[in-house]
Amino acid sequence: MKKIVVFTGAGMSADSGLATFRDADGLWANYRIEDVCTPEALLRDRAKVVGFYNERRREMLLREPNAGHIAIAELENLFEVEVVTQNVDNLHERAGSSRVTHLHGELTKLRSTVNPDITVDIEGWEQRLDDCGPDGALLRPHIVFFGESVPMFDTAVRIASSAEIFVVVGTSLAVYPAASLVRYIAPGVPVWLVDPADPDMRVIRNPLTHIRARAAEGVPALADMLREKYAL
Ligand code: APR
Repeated sequence: MKKIVVFTGAGMSADSGLATFRDADGLWANYRIEDVCTPEALLRDRAKVVGFYNERRREMLLREPNAGHIAIAELENLFEVEVVTQNVDNLHERAGSSRVTHLHGELTKLRSTVNPDITVDIEGWEQRLDDCGPDGALLRPHIVFFGESVPMFDTAVRIASSAEIFVVVGTSLAVYPAASLVRYIAPGVPVWLVDPADPDMRVIRNPLTHIRARAAEGVPALADMLREKYAL
């Protein structure tokens, strides 16, 4: 089985109704990063940060995976598929993808404010301000804030470097170190990029095909092509 690595960003979930970050109507057009997505913000205004991620979690639970998520999950029938996502929603998992690495954390988990290795699953959408973990410390969203390290990056690099086919869906390739993941693809491995607009493709050095489409249309079409080309 050929190994496909699928690297996704917020555009993957846009067709499920979840906002992206940098599009005109994106989250960062309506919230300041320094107010809701930094360690300093969590210390300065815990209620605002917890409330922001409660809202993201509530919206996530109201949405469903789109045809793009499902097409990626179905590729597992004919390929060895690894998903590396910048998204914190659980739509890849709910579509049936079995190997998903989250670079920027997960809305479905909280973690100790003292020991980052202690995470707990959250039931429902709401983290209460005084929720504490098994270590007795206050909990926080299990999200990588700006300025924090990306613990899963080394894992993602190992995955990317093993790809025989690499697919990029719905990311502006604007945030590092996540965007640098495409630099670890082995030379010559073909890259397909699904995005209706033009992300920063300069970072991609491999043979590149840009499918200028939304994920819900472009990814199923790409999946059909990959099956024809590599699996049948
Ligand atoms: N289908 C596919 N791609 C889409 C769609 C869609 N329906 N709608 C928008 N896009 C594309 C945009 O053209 C853009 O290239 O998705 C990308 C979204 O870019 P961003 O909003 O910057 O999201 P992302 O790249 O995931 O951001 C990376 O930044 O704020 C941090 O931690 C946050 O993980 C996030 C990281």
